[in-house]
Amino acid sequence: MNTTAFKSILSVLLAEGKGVLAMDESTPTCNKRFAQYGIAQNEETRRSYRDLILTTPGLNEFISGVILCDETIRQFATNGQTFISLINGLGIIPGIKVDMGAKDIVGHPGEKITEGLDGLQGRLYDYAQLGARFAKWRAVITIGEGIPTRGCIQVNAHTLARYASLCQQVGLIPIVEPEVLMDGEHSLDRCFEVTQEVLHTVFNQLYEQKVAFEYMILKANMVLPGINCLQQESVNEVAEATISCFLRTVPAAVPGIAFLSGGQPGDLAAARLSAMNMKYKFKMPWVLTFSFSRAIQQPALALWKGYPENILEAQKALYHRSRCCSAARLGEYSASLEHDYTFPLIFQS
Ligand code: 13P
Repeated sequence: MNTTAFKSILSVLLAEGKGVLAMDESTPTCNKRFAQYGIAQNEETRRSYRDLILTTPGLNEFISGVILCDETIRQFATNGQTFISLINGLGIIPGIKVDMGAKDIVGHPGEKITEGLDGLQGRLYDYAQLGARFAKWRAVITIGEGIPTRGCIQVNAHTLARYASLCQQVGLIPIVEPEVLMDGEHSLDRCFEVTQEVLHTVFNQLYEQKVAFEYMILKANMVLPGINCLQQESVNEVAEATISCFLRTVPAAVPGIAFLSGGQPGDLAAARLSAMNMKYKFKMPWVLTFSFSRAIQQPALALWKGYPENILEAQKALYHRSRCCSAARLGEYSASLEHDYTFPLIFQS
């Protein structure tokens, strides 16, 4: 294991004031988001959209890493460079989503297992050759009537651990993502209970598979009430529940935890992350940052709508959300930042 290389990747990914931009939506997910805005769904529109994101002026002030999908890592930017060389030129670290999506588990109605272990070692070598320095695998845990079951949690945790050990073997930092979904009517307490069990099981399996905690990143959900729960706790209550859950379950050797946004509005996701970093900074043994997709990209996509004349406005929106997330990473986000529409000179075309 090349620990020096791992440390240098981590020091960039977890740098002060920066976080990871997830832009690894699978083709079906990307198409679904495009369809909402009437954007044509084909390889070229997906390429153009990723080009818009990666050519946003000043993106690297706030973003330390980007997660790509299999299609994007092989594509070229509009200026003729590969996306990988464009990203490297910005001092941003490229990563790759390597799972093959969540499928129904036979005998477990309403529960899913993420596929993609077959042939994974070979694919990881190929991605490392293409320039990826880290990888991501997402497992999905749903809260509902009688679920999640122990069987679902165990099989997903075991799969995450096998993926993570293969990543470390080929020199990629694994991002380990067991996402407890916020869909449903469950309470914050129920989310706490499930997240705690999931994280205990995942770290137990990571240990069993000899994954070095020092060279991984946990990508986690915040501890939240379900989106349809009538009682929605305050920002500070969510921050407290999330941190106390992590303090019980995430080993101190893990260098960083990066949140997914999971469908939270961008401003709320930033406010909650900021509260955690402000109030618990000296209690946490790990860096707490973001690895958002929707909470950074959504306004930009809504402005772009597939039209070249909207690119600049969309990039401003992307810059703005990235700046808010960066402030949250530092524990310095406030609602007033949402109204700060000053942009660097590089935006003046
Ligand atoms: P969201 O921030 O939109 O939840 O996406 C993060 C992600 O990468 C899910 O795997």
